[in-house]
Amino acid sequence: MNSSDSPIIILGTGGHARIVADTLLCSGQRIQGFIDPVAQFSAWREIPYLGNDDILARVPPSTVRLVNGIGSVPFSDTRFTVAAKAESLGFVFCQVIHPSAVIAADTKLAAGVQILAGAIIQTGSIIGKHSIVNTAARIDHDCRIAEFCHIAPGATLCGSVQLAQRVHIGAGATIIQEIDVGADTVIGAGTTITKSIDSMQVVRSPEVVTEARRR
Ligand SMILES: CC(C)(COP(=O)(O)OP(=O)(O)OC[C@H]1O[C@@H](n2cnc3c(N)ncnc32)[C@H](O)[C@@H]1OP(=O)(O)O)[C@@H](O)C(=O)NCCC(=O)NCCS
Repeated sequence: MNSSDSPIIILGTGGHARIVADTLLCSGQRIQGFIDPVAQFSAWREIPYLGNDDILARVPPSTVRLVNGIGSVPFSDTRFTVAAKAESLGFVFCQVIHPSAVIAADTKLAAGVQILAGAIIQTGSIIGKHSIVNTAARIDHDCRIAEFCHIAPGATLCGSVQLAQRVHIGAGATIIQEIDVGADTVIGAGTTITKSIDSMQVVRSPEVVTEARRR
């Protein structure tokens, strides 16, 4: 059976994989290595690249814990499909929580949740499986966040916001209090949301106008 001191294997070798690796090291965790079909390094801070996904067929699921190092970007389901495949083989995903995150004691965090540097989660909030609360994102009181959501860097959810599965809240976006956002909706970076949004929508603010200086 997995225990909290089983070594960790990180899926992926991209930017998000290095962020979660750094976060794990900051909290004193032991990382066995990285796996990825296309490696971006042979070792990172002396932690080795182990090989491609075939490794998972050879490692007994009870001997390691996994961390999903695949970033969550709008319109891509790679993070979801990789997690689903590994879980079907019996692997367990552990939480990744940066020591600088401020998390109210009554917050509920599901398996595989990732809370990155400087994030704040206030009282009564629930974060569903595999969701990411990215760098310096803020979740105020009583928010309900379903599975595989991504609250990108610097985004703010005011109190009692509800996100259905696989919602992406773009970097620096603000969702005011008591808003519901439907499944698979993407809120563009920098957008302020003041009304609830259906599922499968893409919402972005009016574009910034750039023109040549005349004086
Ligand atoms: C909203 C978003 C999903 C749209 O993506 P897209 O459909 O691929 O759109 P495109 O990049 O093709 O841009 C289409 C147009 O919308 C504009 N646009 C894109 N994102 C915008 C945003 N957030 N706010 C305002 N305008 C935006 C583009 O400038 C472009 O304008 P143009 O047609 O005049 O050239 C995306 O731009 C976004 O904001 N993603 C979130 C990024 C993020 O959170 N990153 C964090 C990673 S950790």
